[in-house]
Amino acid sequence: MGSVGEALREGERALEATSTSARLDAELLLCHALSLGRTQLLSRLRDDCPADPFYAYQALVNRRRAGEPVAYIVGEREFFGRRFLVTPSVLIPRPESELLVEEALRVVAGKTRVSFLDLGTGSGCLAVTLALELARRGVAAQGVAVDISADALVVAQSNAQALGAAERISFVETSWLSQPERLSPPFDIIVANPPYVDPSEPSPPELAFEPQGALYSDGQGLHDAREILRTAPELLAHQGTLLLEVGAKKRQQLSGCPEVVALGARVRLFGDDSPHDRFTVVAVAAADEASAVPE
Ligand SMILES: C[S@@+](CC[C@H](N)C(=O)[O-])C[C@H]1O[C@@H](n2cnc3c(N)ncnc32)[C@H](O)[C@@H]1O
Repeated sequence: MGSVGEALREGERALEATSTSARLDAELLLCHALSLGRTQLLSRLRDDCPADPFYAYQALVNRRRAGEPVAYIVGEREFFGRRFLVTPSVLIPRPESELLVEEALRVVAGKTRVSFLDLGTGSGCLAVTLALELARRGVAAQGVAVDISADALVVAQSNAQALGAAERISFVETSWLSQPERLSPPFDIIVANPPYVDPSEPSPPELAFEPQGALYSDGQGLHDAREILRTAPELLAHQGTLLLEVGAKKRQQLSGCPEVVALGARVRLFGDDSPHDRFTVVAVAAADEASAVPE
């Protein structure tokens, strides 16, 4: 059987051909099998690895070798320093979406009350994080989180419950803004991370494990983003802001689309600070604030 350290090396070797983060994957899978945190695991590298967890770990490594994302295997993913339950019904929260939260917090800084809307909540990572981060800053925050997937909303509600945000968020099963009367507008901040992968382009094989309705959008990946740009600005409060995340490659296309052109000076497109420019944020100011698109 060998030690914990040997088990890790074995897992890492087995995953090298599949994963660009083989060592980290092996650590997370062994943590899960041994019910240990990562710091605890790394402090026990010389201990014997007990048989049953070791066999369980080997089975997890085999699932990872078949391409299944670690987050689905262990059932969770960290986002903004908190652990979110994830199931195959929800998109695995992406690190770049943490920047959307940071931008949202920046936009509402200084307000004492904030109402927010999260369009396409998935695991609830954006809504729950916003609710908790605003509360931590002493802001009276109340939000609505929307998804078309009933299964995703079950996961989002579990996360809100487990992380202590349930009182601050209402969950609504609906398609984008087709039933605005159910959402109690207006909102100071609307965040949206809609599907934006172009179904006609080749996509990486690991995406096959995630819900297709969370990833793909017709119209070269922009159908959903454009619908949100047409309808969401009307639900903004005075000085409110819509923040919409799309892929970095979509910036050019979006900047010429009729919805963005119609919004004129109210819209600003910008990217993250990474050298690879992973995504574009579209910021739209409320109609009464044409000069106040967040800088
Ligand atoms: C890219 S995922 C984002 C999930 C989560 N906000 C995040 O950042 O991890 C898009 C989400 O939009 C939801 N969605 C897709 N079409 C929708 C629609 N027409 N109305 C509402 N939600 C929709 C999907 O179910 C999915 O949960």
